[in-house]
Amino acid sequence: MDEFRILGGEPLHGIVKVGGAKNSALPLMAASILTDQPIRLEHVPRLADVDTLSLLLAGLGVESVRGTDGALQMQTVDETPIRAARELVRQMRASFCVLGPLLARRGRAIVPLPGGCNIGPRPVDLHLKGLAALGAELDVVDGDVVARAADLRGAAIDLGGPGGSTVTGTANVLCAAVLARGETILRQAAREPEIADLGHCLNAMGARIAGLGTSTLRITGVGELHGTSYRVIPDRIEAATLAMAAAITRGSVTLDGVIPEHFGIVIDRLRETGCNVEVAPHRLRVAADCRLKPVEIVAEPYPGIPTDVQAQWIALLSLAKGRSTVRDRVFPGRFQHVPELNRLGADVAMAGETALVHGVARLHGRRVTASDLRASAALVLAGLAAEGETIVDEIHHLDRGYEKLDDKLRSLGAAIRRTATAPSQMTNAYHRTVTPTCGP
Ligand code: EPZ
Repeated sequence: MDEFRILGGEPLHGIVKVGGAKNSALPLMAASILTDQPIRLEHVPRLADVDTLSLLLAGLGVESVRGTDGALQMQTVDETPIRAARELVRQMRASFCVLGPLLARRGRAIVPLPGGCNIGPRPVDLHLKGLAALGAELDVVDGDVVARAADLRGAAIDLGGPGGSTVTGTANVLCAAVLARGETILRQAAREPEIADLGHCLNAMGARIAGLGTSTLRITGVGELHGTSYRVIPDRIEAATLAMAAAITRGSVTLDGVIPEHFGIVIDRLRETGCNVEVAPHRLRVAADCRLKPVEIVAEPYPGIPTDVQAQWIALLSLAKGRSTVRDRVFPGRFQHVPELNRLGADVAMAGETALVHGVARLHGRRVTASDLRASAALVLAGLAAEGETIVDEIHHLDRGYEKLDDKLRSLGAAIRRTATAPSQMTNAYHRTVTPTCGP
């Protein structure tokens, strides 16, 4: 297992290219089930989760290969498999996105329930409600969702839940609705850019979806979809994380290949902290030269502050001058990073579901353990600013969602290196891991 060793205190400077969005690429890959024609996806990040989903899709008769140009070429070669491999679905929650496409194209699907996660409960009731409204019969048998649908029919469906809409639930129902007979109206659909991206790709495959980017999607079902070539949007979460890396080290970094509107609210908040942010088409420069001001952060569905940067905000605000508050309305218990940040000298206390972040003057490096993908990113940010050496172990979490983050940070001047965890430390890391992982 790998760990990061970071010698903190180096301000980051330079230009860095942002990769393709993981949370777009995964549902787009699953959507390749919807046709037997070739789908070519450009700008798919090279991540552990992409490899896991490729493996799962291979078991479902979809071949995927990286072309010499780096694009992911996908094609269904066998439409008979309907059962998603349990060990792979358990590894990665996003693999549940194969349910809607399997049902719509093959009429049957057996997909294991993805289970709970290190970031809190992850129900799928809204996925199932939406598919049932389209006419699917769904049962849960021994932990598997067993779904059948001789004929999907359009319906009016409300996807609102206690935490807002559901991102992958919208993806599942959308993928089923594009091949359903008649019109489907999805209300309280997720507005996240990754869902609009999926919709644009489906339209390029011949689907008829209107309202993308809004919370009401109108889908007119079509008989068949065809192949396409499509470019995945830039990863707004990676971009926001790198912007915060610039801010926490009091550096100056230009992010290249971004869509700033996709994380506009993060930019607004960074400005409130005192960062200088210059926005240009596809580029963003973030600079900070003094201690940041505290702010109030509430993670909410898009266009709110993404829950996927909540942990990074706590790291950043732990060094601000004054008290900040951070809440997460999407995953109210997603605060596993707090004790580890406190081990680095942060002063964060939980008051119910609100993190009270009392800014400290400095953090001190030591060994910390990442509990999930974004918690790892927060620990790396803290390590970049801490005095002395920070060792972040369990870095496999981070590798699921950030492509070569260490290389990117090093290119900006960070003193970060990847090493293999020593066997004695692996034992410690193992004992401090609370629950098995089920990731994004
Ligand atoms: C997606 O997860 C992302 N994953 C997550 O990214 C992200 O944190 C999350 O959306 C929220 O933005 C992918 O896109 C692959 P949800 P998803 O269904 O779709 C409740 C990362 O770090 N809910 O939108 O699984 C749920 O409990 C990650 O990259 C129900 O009540 O999340 C939560 O409160 C991890 N019933 C809220 O909705 C349901 O059936 C949003 O969850 C489904 C969800």
